[in-house]
Amino acid sequence: MAPARENPFTFLEVLEQHVREHRVSFHVPGHHNGTVVDDRLPDAFAKVMPYDLTELAHLDDLHDASGIIEQAECALGKLYESKSKWLVNGSTVGNWSMLAATVKRGERVYVQRNSHKSIWNAIEWLGLKPVLLTPTIERGTGIPTVVTLDTIKQAIQEFPGGRAVMLTSPTYYGDMADIRTISDYLTLLDIPLLVDEAHGAHLIHPQLPRRSAIFEGASAVVQSAHKTLPALTMGAWVHYKDNIDEARLKHALASFQTSSPSYLIMASLDYARSYLERLTDEEWSAIQKSHAQFVLELKRAGFVVKVGDDFTKVTILTYPKNGLIFSQHLASIGIDIELAAVDHVLFCLPLREIEKQEIEHWIK
Ligand SMILES: Cc1ncc(COP(=O)(O)O)c(C=O)c1O
Repeated sequence: MAPARENPFTFLEVLEQHVREHRVSFHVPGHHNGTVVDDRLPDAFAKVMPYDLTELAHLDDLHDASGIIEQAECALGKLYESKSKWLVNGSTVGNWSMLAATVKRGERVYVQRNSHKSIWNAIEWLGLKPVLLTPTIERGTGIPTVVTLDTIKQAIQEFPGGRAVMLTSPTYYGDMADIRTISDYLTLLDIPLLVDEAHGAHLIHPQLPRRSAIFEGASAVVQSAHKTLPALTMGAWVHYKDNIDEARLKHALASFQTSSPSYLIMASLDYARSYLERLTDEEWSAIQKSHAQFVLELKRAGFVVKVGDDFTKVTILTYPKNGLIFSQHLASIGIDIELAAVDHVLFCLPLREIEKQEIEHWIK
């Protein structure tokens, strides 16, 4: 990647400066820097609108980045030790693009059986031939976890010639595959490993027991920054290594994404990257301690809890009680959770310490 043009200001700072100048807008979007509004629009919303900008010369172009966007993507790549591109259509478009960049119509791809629908939609529309990889089912909970190397080896032996392996790790429940072992094996066969890491953008600290697949030998990894980092919904990114055809990936991204990328989403991506970058070792420890304390208090209160490899995902096993009823009870006291099923509920914990008042009403 060519070095970004020098600019001493971050993406967010350049937007901030643009807004401060109160410039005249004779360009899209139609709110014209938030000037086409009336008093029905809530104040807080009206304040955000001027930041919803477009591809003006000094604001760069997501699909042909050479200025502040390229610079921000380089900073992101540095953090994840890879090449990186912002996505404004979620991990969904990242999954489509990773597959389109590596597997051609009619070719085989080895894919985890319980993959997200974006992967199945891409396989259908791109005309790929999936070979299914069944994940291990966790004893006791019945929750599907991750795919093992043995399963991948067997699939390749039975159905040779596949162009990529597509795994999901971490899963929704925070279980993570042994990516290092799998990627070492696939490197020998020259098969790229693609990882849907929609739930794993925060897993970068070297002392975590399991880190993002991009540090463990994966060829390309997609992450929904909006799921686990302080980014706006739809904000995501893809990281990739040299064995991914960059031109093909960029073509796919430009084909599948909007030609009017949201500057609000992109600004939040730059913020999410800098939030992560600035977390100190002490802050990482404090967050992990706070989450462990939360789990401990749940256990003390008699809840049966599952925590996967990812410390931000906590599942309460509610059986024989109904998880849906439990989640309705929590909602009635102002606590909204990620997912409720018949026999369990899932909490996504924030990448900050948990506040006392967030738990004191209901864990007794
Ligand atoms: C495992 C997994 N992959 C991909 C996606 C799609 O992510 P996004 O909503 O960012 O498009 C999701 C969303 O729920 C997901 O859980």
